[in-house]
Amino acid sequence: MSSLAETRILNIEKIRDEFPVLHQLVNGKPLVYLDNAATSQKPKRVIKALTDFYECYNANIHRGIHTLAEKATKAYEETRLAMQQFIHAKHIEEIIFTRGVTESINLVAATYGRAFLKEGDEVIISGLEHHSNIVPWQIICDEKKASLKIIPITEIGEMDLDVYSKLLSSRTKIVAVNHASNSLGTINPIKEVITLAHNFGAVVLIDGAQSSAHLEIDVQDIDCDFYCISSHKMYGPTGTGILYGKKNLLERMPPYMGGGEMIKDVTFAKTTFNEIPYKFEAGTPNIADVIALHEAVNFIKELGKENIAAHESELLQYASEKLSNLPSVRLVGTSKNKVSVQSFVIEGIHHFDVGQMLDTRGIAVRTGHHCTQPLMERFGIEGTVRASFAVYNTKAEIDLLMEGLQRVISFMNNK
Ligand code: ALA
Repeated sequence: MSSLAETRILNIEKIRDEFPVLHQLVNGKPLVYLDNAATSQKPKRVIKALTDFYECYNANIHRGIHTLAEKATKAYEETRLAMQQFIHAKHIEEIIFTRGVTESINLVAATYGRAFLKEGDEVIISGLEHHSNIVPWQIICDEKKASLKIIPITEIGEMDLDVYSKLLSSRTKIVAVNHASNSLGTINPIKEVITLAHNFGAVVLIDGAQSSAHLEIDVQDIDCDFYCISSHKMYGPTGTGILYGKKNLLERMPPYMGGGEMIKDVTFAKTTFNEIPYKFEAGTPNIADVIALHEAVNFIKELGKENIAAHESELLQYASEKLSNLPSVRLVGTSKNKVSVQSFVIEGIHHFDVGQMLDTRGIAVRTGHHCTQPLMERFGIEGTVRASFAVYNTKAEIDLLMEGLQRVISFMNNK
């Protein structure tokens, strides 16, 4: 694998060989997978890590003293170390395994929010958020009689920072925004968002679902208080991810779920809780998927995020230019600073029809509101067609997308 990233120009054909799923016909056509913002495909090494675990050392972790249990525990904890390094966290105990970003955000809302929000406090999110970074805050704000404030989004799909700075006040207790938007791809100026929030003593949670496979993440440099990642969007398995939290905050937060592993001592009169991170990892975790996530981290590290980003940005530019030259196509989300996601609508043609017709040609895109209904409302649309690119995509695939779209447009216009 090391030869994959020998030069800055990645060997995409060799990278594609690592992904068995890409080499198949869908509806009689070679698969063109452009739905990477929903979930990325998995390289062989991740799949092998899963089968190795179940074939060779399946055991529960942190509990047994037998050989298999020790081996499984070691591998699980090595992923924690890999994730610490991946996001440059100061302490390993700041990495908590969860089911992914949704659970990470819910954990913070339900523990930090429940412990520290009071009536009259404010939580700020942005108009670019996924439902998973809206609903947990609505639930906790309702419960605590706090209010939710929204940073508006400009015509090109960026946060309006002027309004944001006016929303901030001593009432602001939490700011929660994404690093990159799943619907539009906009990369948000999170360092600025964090600094401004800290001036008012608020803590900041960053939803990193769409950034982890594309952008360098340094939680100490940006100084966020919480950062959330899903494994399956960065070439790892589904069902796992992390919550990063600053040690002093995690230590002050009450537990999320009760159960095994998160306790120190249990009597019927009283329970004392384990140290972080275990305080937040009740029950048998998703051991195999956590272990396989380590291989996804290695895969990204070997290619180099800069190289991945350079390739994807070329694809994005190529696709956006071609799309904007198609008749009746309107791009949604045109910030200059984007990860490799392009949403668009075609005048007079429903996005579901576009998605279905592309699927008949083996092309996978996502259509709909992308779990960002308020953002769609902001643009006065019900949904978009979204093409999102990963390191294994090629310009030839984008040409196939364009051919497909041309066919859709001429078919629908001549009906
Ligand atoms: N949040 C994922 C997406 O944007 C599922 O498609």
